Amino acid sequence: MKITLKIWRQKKADTKGKLVAYDLNNIDPKQSFLETLDTLNQQLIAKGEEPVAFESDCREGICGVCGLYISGTAHGPLRETTTCQLHMRTFKDGETITVEPWRAKPFKVIKDLVVDRSPFDRIIQAGGFVSVNAGNAPDGNIVPISKKAADTAMDAAACIGCGACVAACKNGSAMLFVAAKVAHLAHLPQGSIEGQKRVRAMIAQMDAEGFGSCTNTYECGAVCPKGISVDFIAEMNRRWLGATLFDSK
Ligand code: SF4
Ligand code: FES
Repeated sequence: MKITLKIWRQKKADTKGKLVAYDLNNIDPKQSFLETLDTLNQQLIAKGEEPVAFESDCREGICGVCGLYISGTAHGPLRETTTCQLHMRTFKDGETITVEPWRAKPFKVIKDLVVDRSPFDRIIQAGGFVSVNAGNAPDGNIVPISKKAADTAMDAAACIGCGACVAACKNGSAMLFVAAKVAHLAHLPQGSIEGQKRVRAMIAQMDAEGFGSCTNTYECGAVCPKGISVDFIAEMNRRWLGATLFDSK
């Protein structure tokens, strides 16, 4: 395949960026999108040019660091697919593909396609710990949990913190991410002990980081590579209201 990549190049956070076009020949349709960026970088290094900075770790769709805006959609055209799991056969021979970093005020561009997603880390930290009995290791399944609660908690826990929901939202809202993190602990008995405190602290941190409010357009759910349901946002709002009205500290 032949493709043209129009990539956002930006030296540093405080310098101006621009889209730069690179033509690539002999791209194997079976290779992944990140492998195509690797191919480009090998060619740039061979020419003595600076490679394109982008993030990746697991390349298995589970770490959440690889997110890119690809031709106008977070993580590209396939639903429930991370950038690292996207393959070149998804695109047409001769296609021009635009590649940009996440665009959201709280996610500052560090270089090229790499953004600072530490606001997510601080929201998680604000959520605090889960109470555990620090004695001997308990027997497995000693705390009964209903199948429905365990399934719901697991559905929410599937969030990989990639930030696509924020990038896709016209308000830069982090509510789908925060809702998933709140719900995955709140549905389990171990996590419900600090439940009220957690939902208040995480939402306060989300606001302090400068994320916008929910737009109710569900763009977040449409681009989420893990299919996190927007129903969790409504649940988080209910939990926050309950925690605020019936504050048990
Ligand atoms: S909710 Fe989905 S889109 Fe948002 S951070 Fe989690 S996995 Fe990524
Ligand atoms: S590199 Fe880990 S999810 Fe893509």
